[in-house]
Amino acid sequence: MIVAANFKMNKTRKETIEYLKELKKIDFEDVVVRVYPPCSALIEDEIVGAQNAYPANNGAYTGEIGLEQLKEFKIDKILLGHSERRNILGESQEFIAKKFNFYKEQNFEIILCIGEKLEVRKKGIKAVVEVLKSQLEGIDLGYEKLIIAYEPVWAIGSGISASVEEIRQTHLEIRKMTNQPILYGGSVKLSNIKEILNIQNVDGVLVGSASLDVEVFKKMIEIAKEIK
Ligand code: 13P
Repeated sequence: MIVAANFKMNKTRKETIEYLKELKKIDFEDVVVRVYPPCSALIEDEIVGAQNAYPANNGAYTGEIGLEQLKEFKIDKILLGHSERRNILGESQEFIAKKFNFYKEQNFEIILCIGEKLEVRKKGIKAVVEVLKSQLEGIDLGYEKLIIAYEPVWAIGSGISASVEEIRQTHLEIRKMTNQPILYGGSVKLSNIKEILNIQNVDGVLVGSASLDVEVFKKMIEIAKEIK
């Protein structure tokens, strides 16, 4: 099982250091734990990855960080294609694929996020699959360090996760495309994580707001440890 925390634009470096210290008080056993803090809080730690980076070593890309900045903290894990970057920051599929290829070339572990908007979900699974496929364009689905995160846009930060049946059906469709791990993300909470982790083809979760409280995140890891 993989249990990952996406802090988004939350927490300072100091808070992140304290969080990791507290988190590491528990034994993860065979659960793979990941924490993605903001770029200003990157820390050299085997469980820490970047939420985003530019596909270049360094250069004239104002406001961005690249491989050189990640290497300073020995970061070799990255989140790409998050819906907030696709929708708020306007990242195109072409640009996401470019980032994927660049960081794949660097042998990074890559969590690639995909997910449909509500109007697509309302049309049914066929329309959903079409969108997901378009968000996987240019991505090597056989890359051994690829992890897919299925995050329906309407479930992110809404407090309402997708239903068990929606997750089961969608993960099955993604499974037809790749053998790599598939995470679910979108309003994962202490109250629903066990149910979600028990769904077929769910290999873990990507948690946003609920992960900000380290005690909650620790409990989530404890729950994941029980699932075989
Ligand atoms: P929430 O858990 O806050 O819904 O966010 C999910 C997410 O976007 C993780 O990447």
